[in-house]
Amino acid sequence: MDHFLYRDGVLHAEDVPLAEIAEAVGTPFYCYSTATLTRHFRLFDEALEGMDHLVCYAMKAASNQAILRTLAGLGAGMDVVSGGEYMRALAAGVPGERIVFSGVGKTRDEMRLALEGGIRQFNVESEPEMRALSEVAVSLGVVAPITVRVNPDVDAKTHAKIATGKSENKFGIPISRARAVYAEAAALPGIEVIGIDVHIGSQLTELEPFRQAYQKVADLTEELRAEGHDIRRLDLGGGLGIPYTRSNEAPPLPTDYGALIRETLGHLGCEIEIEPGRLVAGNAGILVSEVIYVKEGEGRDFLILDAAMNDLIRPAMYDAHHDIIPVVEPAPGVEQTPYDVVGPVCESGDTFARGRMLPPLAEGELVAFRSAGAYGAVMSSEYNTRPLIPEVLVNGREFAVIRARPTFDEMINRDTIPEWL
Ligand code: LLP
Repeated sequence: MDHFLYRDGVLHAEDVPLAEIAEAVGTPFYCYSTATLTRHFRLFDEALEGMDHLVCYAMKAASNQAILRTLAGLGAGMDVVSGGEYMRALAAGVPGERIVFSGVGKTRDEMRLALEGGIRQFNVESEPEMRALSEVAVSLGVVAPITVRVNPDVDAKTHAKIATGKSENKFGIPISRARAVYAEAAALPGIEVIGIDVHIGSQLTELEPFRQAYQKVADLTEELRAEGHDIRRLDLGGGLGIPYTRSNEAPPLPTDYGALIRETLGHLGCEIEIEPGRLVAGNAGILVSEVIYVKEGEGRDFLILDAAMNDLIRPAMYDAHHDIIPVVEPAPGVEQTPYDVVGPVCESGDTFARGRMLPPLAEGELVAFRSAGAYGAVMSSEYNTRPLIPEVLVNGREFAVIRARPTFDEMINRDTIPEWL
């Protein structure tokens, strides 16, 4: 469920007509709904009610300060994967003890930053990383709390580029080696083992892979406890998928996911962390774009938009589907025609959709890409020297620009000319 609905024939974000925002900020732009963000965060929080838990929003999905602050105000922790994300979380007012640090290649500088600023735990992904972390912690006179991310070798049944839980993926340590790694961890002076971490992939549309992974984590918890490790926290990663089409997709709900966690891991008495990103932000954001031209091709019409692959790369990168809808509601029964929906960037990969059935559209009309709140703005670039597009947050009848479009001068002046030129 989201808060982007037609009202009086015009698409609104909560109580604001999108045309009003387009008028104020120009197109293209990202627009987020506070009500949807809040609703989705709360669904997870409530799904784990009764268990000691913390929902650590995976801020890689959408990391604008205003979004982080909205979620932090609801009690969210954060899952960060870089020094930059760590600083963003702190800047949004999230205390270190609510930040978990994930990622396969944390540098010593990043470790230092987090140990000095405060951190809930590092999710360690390899022995060399664990040794480096121990050294850094010892050099600072502190002890680093860790979980070890285990790779359970289960098939997440998702797109190959976003599956992480198979043995061929670079993530975590093979679960078969876990006991040896925990034994080494226990002996390292700068490390305190507190739990286990697992994350098997993103956009999972079934619960079964989670069940398999979590059962393996339950078994491992008991084995490690038997060997004397104080396993008291389980970080279960993110990955619950969202419906990208309005039609027949029905991925499991956070309540079902919560019930699965309770069933597979509830008896262990551990504190539970989850790291959802997409389900919190995905359907809480849309991308609004204007039709520049409609070009007649051979056997097809091209809808040329002012948004491009640099603004929303998911279709080009993962063949991802995003519903595209006109901002002005089509009259009932209007005949749809197929369009190839493309952007102005100079490569054929800059195609959002082929043969997409849409009502007739003309120059100057607005369209919205649904489900663009997660991995949209954060993955955008200035390719073709196209400015990063504004982000707007709506709250009831109010809206605010939460990231402004840079001017051409701002973009150009980020470059510096060597003195010999
Ligand atoms: N935790 C870890 C360790 C992760 O690597 C990820 C996502 C998450 C949590 C959040 O997963 P989510 O709940 O959002 O599925 N750019 C891709 C998705 C990449 C996901 C990377 N890791 C896309 O646009 O589909």
